[in-house]
Formats: sequence, structure tokens, C-alpha cells
Amino acid sequence: MEYLEFENEKELSSDEQKLLMEALESVGRSYAPYSEFHVGAAVLLENGEVVCGSNQENAAYPSGLCAERVAIFYANSQFPGVAIKAMAITAKADHFLIEAPIKPCGSCRQVIAETENRQQDKIKLIMQGERGPVHIINGIENLLPFTFYEKKLQKTQT
Ligand code: THU
Repeated sequence: MEYLEFENEKELSSDEQKLLMEALESVGRSYAPYSEFHVGAAVLLENGEVVCGSNQENAAYPSGLCAERVAIFYANSQFPGVAIKAMAITAKADHFLIEAPIKPCGSCRQVIAETENRQQDKIKLIMQGERGPVHIINGIENLLPFTFYEKKLQKTQT
């Protein structure tokens, strides 16, 4: 389980900073009146497109969806078969300051894992709170070991 830590976003490459900025802009498009916790995700595709998502809640709480899955599912539905190179994630809460990087929840990790499994290259995750350190994780296996994946649905398992 490896990750890189940077003191702040200024230590990132300009491409990484740009993706984090897109995620930050997406935070502003979150619909989170219940948790008052706004998350933004920006996905960079191998064709250069950037697709954003934000958490979208609902009065029937489980009907809502996290920013990461909104972004990935939107990317997969708009650009099927186009690999995801990186995803930036950030968040802002209405009543407190988020100073630690935001990591995807378990369900999002599962979706990131299957997305990565469908493509050649690992997905780079770039995560930051409202300010403070940035964590970079190269490859979902550093966030979700012993993953359940599609081959487990077959009789001959690997
Ligand atoms: N949420 C995300 O969008 N991404 C995460 O990685 C963690 C949680 C959302 C779900 C819910 O709308 C709110 O944040 C509080 O859990």
C-alpha cells in the first residue's frame, strides 16, 4: 500500500494541478443539502478529455451517488472504451475545514478497480482536502487489495 505525499498542490506537475483545479470547480456543482459535504472529481482520459463529477444526494439517502462514481460512469458512458489515466478528488464541507486528503469510499474503490481492470494502465489518484497535503496513489491495488473482480464470477477462478 504505497502513496506519495506532497506538502501542497504547488509541488505537483502542471497537469496534476490542472486536474485538481477541475475537481475543485466540480465541488461547486455538488448537490449535497443533507450531508453538507461537497465532493468533486475530475477524470483525465487518454484522449485528453476531462470529465467531471460531483456528489449528487437525494432525500432517499441511498439513492445519491459519490462524485467519483458520477465522474467515472459519465466518462464511461460518454467515451466507452477510452482509458482513464488519472482522477483528482477534493471536497469542501459547509461547517468545517477539510485539511486532509479525501479518499474514495469502498464502493467507489470497487468501481475504480473494475475500471482499471478493463484497461492497460493503472489509474493515478490525486487527492487533497480544501488545503494541505496532496496524496497521490498509483493504481487502485494500493487502496483496495484482494479485490473482488469479474473473474470471480466464473467457475475457474484466478
Ligand atoms: N462522498 C463522495 O462523493 N465521495 C467520497 O469519496 C466520500 C463521500 C459523498 C457521499 C455523500 O454525498 C457525502 O459525500 C457524505 O458522505
